[in-house]
Amino acid sequence: METSVSGLAIAAVLFLQFSVNSSCSATRSLPSRSTNIEYIKTTCYNTTLYPKLCYHTLAIYASTIETDPKLLASTALNVSLRNTYSTSRLMKRVSKLPVLEPRVVAAMLDCTEEVGDSVYELQRSMEEMGHAGGSTFSKAMSDVETWVSAALTDDDTCLDGFTEEVMDKKVAAIIKRHIQRTARLTSNALALVNRYASTQASLP
Ligand SMILES: *[C@@H]1O[C@H](CO)[C@@H](O)[C@H](O)[C@H]1NC(C)=O
Ligand SMILES: *[C@@H]1O[C@H](CO)[C@@H](O)[C@H](O)[C@H]1NC(C)=O
Repeated sequence: METSVSGLAIAAVLFLQFSVNSSCSATRSLPSRSTNIEYIKTTCYNTTLYPKLCYHTLAIYASTIETDPKLLASTALNVSLRNTYSTSRLMKRVSKLPVLEPRVVAAMLDCTEEVGDSVYELQRSMEEMGHAGGSTFSKAMSDVETWVSAALTDDDTCLDGFTEEVMDKKVAAIIKRHIQRTARLTSNALALVNRYASTQASLP
């Protein structure tokens, strides 16, 4: 009985989160120019581990990104940051539900802390990306790569440590999917940052 009540409460929070996210991404859809769209598609498919997710989350920014590898990378970072932030808020809200048992709360809080670190690291990487230019370009990009890698490691640590046995299986599965999506977006952003850093470095 207790599990199903907490399951329902969590499902309600998750549902709200999902509706907010999907109404957000549904507001803009069709491309302005097909070359920009094509650029994003090809680069996602050539560069990232989760190309479909890359393409679907970035194509809506085609008119901003155009065919600029820096804007593609920084937009991917921004998308990853906002998604990580919303996952972090979701986890915090779920951990506060009064129906949860203490050991479940403890497990959730560990993970919440890691996702919170990931938010910070992605913020730092975006700041560094803003500074990247001129003679300090390589140094700045290497810092960006370090921050994004750290964020990805934190997401993965959270996923690895996520102990399904302490939670309602369905709820655990839903939360896991959220974190997994976050980690994939971050992995994609890292690939696009690496690509941008290496293409710039090889210019004369
Ligand atoms: C993607 O890869 C294909 C084949 O390897 C290549 O022809 C194309 O130029 C690449 N496109 C981008 C945007 O990197
Ligand atoms: C990140 O995204 C938000 C929301 O779309 C936007 O307001 C902000 O300007 C973006 N930041 C950068 C650095 O692209």
